[in-house]
Amino acid sequence: MVDTLAISVTPLSSALGAEISGLDLREDLDQSTIGQITDALHEHIVVVFRDQDLSEEQQLRFTSRFGEVGTRKRSTGLHSDGRFMLVTNITVDGEPLGSYGDGEMWFHSDGAYDEVPYRFSFLYGMELPSSGGNTRFANLYRAYDALPQALKEKLAGRKVLQMGGSRRREKGDPNADLSKIPHAWHPLFTTHPATGKKSLYFSRMHSVRIEGFDLEESEAIIEELADLSERPEFIYEHVWRPGDLVVWDNRCTNHARTPFPDEENRLMRRCTVMGEKPTE
Ligand SMILES: [Fe+2]
Repeated sequence: MVDTLAISVTPLSSALGAEISGLDLREDLDQSTIGQITDALHEHIVVVFRDQDLSEEQQLRFTSRFGEVGTRKRSTGLHSDGRFMLVTNITVDGEPLGSYGDGEMWFHSDGAYDEVPYRFSFLYGMELPSSGGNTRFANLYRAYDALPQALKEKLAGRKVLQMGGSRRREKGDPNADLSKIPHAWHPLFTTHPATGKKSLYFSRMHSVRIEGFDLEESEAIIEELADLSERPEFIYEHVWRPGDLVVWDNRCTNHARTPFPDEENRLMRRCTVMGEKPTE
């Protein structure tokens, strides 16, 4: 057991994000250090650890300190352990090694289409393209705060249909047969259980319908919320280095991926911990 360390937390942008230095995540960290990391996550939403060298087992062990490790119900790719998802464009004998292979990916929150979404995601950068494939994080507290008052009042208490599937840069069809698609209705405005702050819980990729409005009006509101939630001043863009472990809080941030060259490998390994049912 490593004794309590004074970790150093350095903000990465005015929107969100902080780098935590002074830790080797292979070590068996004490509870006070885990508490400091959790506090930093609550304050900064996204935390970055540089220059880590983590085996699957070590990544899993660190993840498990923050809650019940999430398992994927719909495992894709050759890597079949549901506690890990490989996010990669690498193929083996023509078969995808993991999920969400190439190109740009729209803003979303991991597991938003489940009744109980993931609380934190832990993404480890292993092999990266020479350019692009950055992860953009959006601060959804700030998006909530920026809502025009009239819109805030109009949408208070409404639920939004969050729809899964394997889309990467395409909105879900609000008229789709939901019996075949993972989906959940969640409050559009949520209260973060740890910070008590109000957040927008909405993304361009997963949010397809707002209750209480006809389709046309719902679509117009969705466009407005998508644009608002992606304003540049709410965003930190992470440029990956191999050995980065980035942890984020899915309850108050969306993330998106910028394009990268198809012919170059990108390999990331993700774990999650379970959260709670979002509440207003
Ligand atoms: Fe994601």
